[in-house]
Parts: sequence; C-alpha cells; structure tokens
Amino acid sequence: MQRGLFVFLLINLFILILLVRNVSTLLSLLVEDAAADAIHRAELPSPNSSLIEQHPQIIPKIIHQTYKNETIPEVWVNAQQSCIDLHPDYEYILWTDETSREFITAKYPWFLETFDGYKYPIQRADSIRYFVLAHYGGIYIDLDDGCNRRLDPLLTYPAWARRTVPTGISNDAMGSVPQHPFFLRVIELLQQYDRHWLLPYITVMYSTGPLFLSVIWKEYIQDYPSEMSRVRILMPDEYKKYSWSFFTHHTGNSWHGKDAHFIFWMGQHWMFLTFCGFLLAAVVGFCLFWTYGRILLLGAQYRYRYSKVSSIISPSRFSSSPSRRARRIMPILLRRVSFKRDEATETSFELGLRDD
Ligand SMILES: *[C@@H]1O[C@H](CO)[C@@H](O)[C@H](O)[C@H]1NC(C)=O
Ligand SMILES: *[C@@H]1O[C@H](CO)[C@@H](O)[C@H](O)[C@H]1NC(C)=O
Repeated sequence: MQRGLFVFLLINLFILILLVRNVSTLLSLLVEDAAADAIHRAELPSPNSSLIEQHPQIIPKIIHQTYKNETIPEVWVNAQQSCIDLHPDYEYILWTDETSREFITAKYPWFLETFDGYKYPIQRADSIRYFVLAHYGGIYIDLDDGCNRRLDPLLTYPAWARRTVPTGISNDAMGSVPQHPFFLRVIELLQQYDRHWLLPYITVMYSTGPLFLSVIWKEYIQDYPSEMSRVRILMPDEYKKYSWSFFTHHTGNSWHGKDAHFIFWMGQHWMFLTFCGFLLAAVVGFCLFWTYGRILLLGAQYRYRYSKVSSIISPSRFSSSPSRRARRIMPILLRRVSFKRDEATETSFELGLRDD
C-alpha cells in the first residue's frame, strides 16, 4: 500500500468522522420512527367511552395557548372555541406577549435576557410554551388547532408530543405534568441553542422550534427514560383526520416566509437532494485527491532541482529520478493523468513496468 494514499485516506476519514459526529443527532433523527414511544390507537379509549374514567389522569386540566394580544384573529376563533366548548371543566390560559414576559420575569428571571433578545416574535411564542408546561403542566395547543374530541385520554401520560412526517416531533400540540424531566431539559437548553443560522426559517426551527425540540427529544430518548419520564408520541392518525383523532386543523402556519417555501420544497425533494449531496461530496473529494497528487508531484520536482548534480554524476535509472519518487507516493489513479502531458515517454515506460 502506498503511504501517500494511505495518509490521504486517513485524513479524509478523520474529517468525515468529525462531520458525522457533529450532525449525528440530525442524521439519526431521519431514521427515528418513534415506534418505541408511540401511543397505540388500541390503548386510546374511543370518544365518550366509559374506559376514559378508569385511567388516572395525571396531567393537570389546563389548556395553554399563545397569541400576541387578546384579540384572536377571526380565522382562529372557531378553532379556539371548539377547544373551550369541549372542555368546560378545564382551566384555559391565553399567553399574550405581555403576560408571557411577566411570567418569565417572575418565575425564570435567568431566561429573561435570552427571551427579550430573540429576533423573531415566534421564538418567544415557541419558548414560552415550554416554560408554562414545565411550570404548570397541562396541554399546549396552537391557535390553528381545533379540538375534535375531549383530550382526557391524553392526560394519562406523564408527557406527550406529536409526531411529524417525515421526521421528528412538533411543538404545536403537547402535554406534560409539571416539572417533567423532558421539558426541564428543554428549557435548560434553550439558551445553548440560541444561535443564528443565516435563514430566518432555520434559525427559528433550530433555536426554539420543532427541529430544536426534535433534536433534544432524540438525545433524551437515547438515555432510555423510565416510565414516568418517558415522552409518549401521538401519531399522525390520532392527531387529526379521523373521527377518533384529537385535533382538527384550521389554517396553515401563519409565520412562514419565502425561505420556508424553499425549505418545504427541499423537504419534498429530499431524495434528489441527498443524491446531489453525495455527488457533490464525490466531486469535491476527487478534486482534493487530484490537488493532493499535484502537490506531491510539485514537491518531487522541487527536490529534484536540488539533487540534479548528484544524479548527473551518477546517472542511474533506479536511483532518485523525480518521476519515480513521485510515482511511489502518488495514487495510481493520478499517475497517468499527471504524467501524460509533460512526460509522455515516462508514461509508456511506466505502463511497461507495471508488472513488477
Ligand atoms: C360524545 O358525546 C357528545 C355529547 O354528549 C356528543 O355530542 C358526541 O357526538 C359524542 N361522540 C361520539 C363519538 O359518540
Ligand atoms: C391586537 O393586535 C391587533 C393587530 O396588531 C390589533 O389590531 C388589536 O387592536 C390588538 N388588540 C389589543 C387588545 O390591543
């Protein structure tokens, strides 16, 4: 094995391992199907079933929602009302910009600076929901989610979130007991994830939004939490669409910008993009490989200039001629490419000698 090639491959392997290590959670998220924690439809009593009463309900009967002020836009009034009407015995809290900030100031002053520093209001709306769940417990529902049936069966799990397709979990409907270890970890890590990622959409997703939550969740479940600290996952069919589903959806997310459409497009074409990614990596890898070969060749020629005298004095075909030395350290693939142009004779010589 040629040492040059070996070193080159080793360096590449090292870089690859470093990259994979940094994005390993993201990569593993792609193949995480949440099956181990899924709430199975068989364990969910049907609406109005007497079985509902028999399970101890541990999540407090509180519904949290957020909006910037108390004037809910017309499009969401019906959704909001459907949840309130179905749950007359639940406490209902609408967190506005003002009450959210008051809550953080009073209960989590260490977070106030980060909270105020968020560039996008949606980041505050995202983060406040984790804090109120960690503090009071209850169920958080986005304003554009209406209720299709009573949420009582979901009160029997210590914590739950909703599965999203193709990957991860979302933060638009979640429930938790107060001080649940998962949400405690979430609020703890918010500051660490408060970074900018060029595109507003990615910044929001990865600093406070569903991607942030999914990454924390993926790392959390790798520790095999106990029954009480488990986060159960509401699967898409139980989320909405069917008569037994819990929610109805009213309108699309209100805050997505142009870059979001681009990212949705990327999401829809991820196979193609992954293929392109590999192709690009291969091309870049080959270019690096080629450059590396050229540099070695250059080095060999450079050294030759200084040893010319000695090789003239004792001319030997098997001593240290530059092309031979370069050949020894240069990857086989590159030899012909590099020698062809300026040393056509060397190439044929090389090809003739290949047996030894
Ligand atoms: C459950 O009960 C409510 C009111 O008692 C009723 O309006 C609703 O249709 C019932 N749902 C089912 C699926 O039976
Ligand atoms: C809430 O915000 C909307 C839109 O910015 C505004 O029209 C409305 O007057 C505000 N409501 C209150 C109670 O301040």
